[in-house]
Amino acid sequence: MTDTDRERIVAATGAHVRARMEGEGSGHDWWHVHRVRSVALRLAEEEGADPYVTELAALLHDIADHKFHDGDETAGPRAARGWLEGVGADGETISRVCTIIAELSFRGAGVATPMSTVEGAVVQDADRLDAIGAIGIARTFAYGGMRGRAMHDPEVDPESHDSFEAYKASTGPTVNHFHEKLLLLRDRMNTAAARRAAGERHRFMEEFLERFFREWEGADLAPVEA
Ligand code: ADP
Ligand code: NI
Repeated sequence: MTDTDRERIVAATGAHVRARMEGEGSGHDWWHVHRVRSVALRLAEEEGADPYVTELAALLHDIADHKFHDGDETAGPRAARGWLEGVGADGETISRVCTIIAELSFRGAGVATPMSTVEGAVVQDADRLDAIGAIGIARTFAYGGMRGRAMHDPEVDPESHDSFEAYKASTGPTVNHFHEKLLLLRDRMNTAAARRAAGERHRFMEEFLERFFREWEGADLAPVEA
């Protein structure tokens, strides 16, 4: 396989993913994939990961996510394999990319999600960086709205999920997702560079939640004069 072959495969994959995900409204759109690809490639350079496998995995990581396929975890790797076979990628690349996609997703507070390759580690970090900070907040409310979830319900407490099944079955309000996933990601980054960026994004989410609850209670209003 020559560099030109690889470039053709990457370009065709980008165009395919863009066409499929453009305009999606829950934060799993083409621009999410685009950001994950750029960040993953930067981390790959720092970590000495193979840029070809990294880029293909980043491009295809949400192509058939379990969240949009009745919880079926095999849909993503299967769709990626079908696409890559069709476009003429070699067998070893296909299997490396499919392993990354199969291992990538968050599965609940109590479930470890180790990545078996450095390429997987950087794609997972890039995907998780896009789940936190200002963009993470925006994506989370977009997803909650798409699912018809309440933004916040003070009568429903966050849960701690000990299995992927329980995590997938959860229908709690969107603010709970911060405790159930987003605030846990900083300490689960694989690479030093992602950990550094995650610190700042994490602090911003904490400040957002503090303000959200202050406004929810109207606690930011001046006291009524007697
Ligand atoms: P993963 O496969 O690790 O879940 P994705 O790239 O598919 O990662 O994106 C997950 C994002 O979707 C979350 O970070 C969040 O923004 C949104 N999301 C997923 N589940 C929920 C939920 N129950 N409530 C609100 N947002 C959610
Ligand atoms: Ni993603």
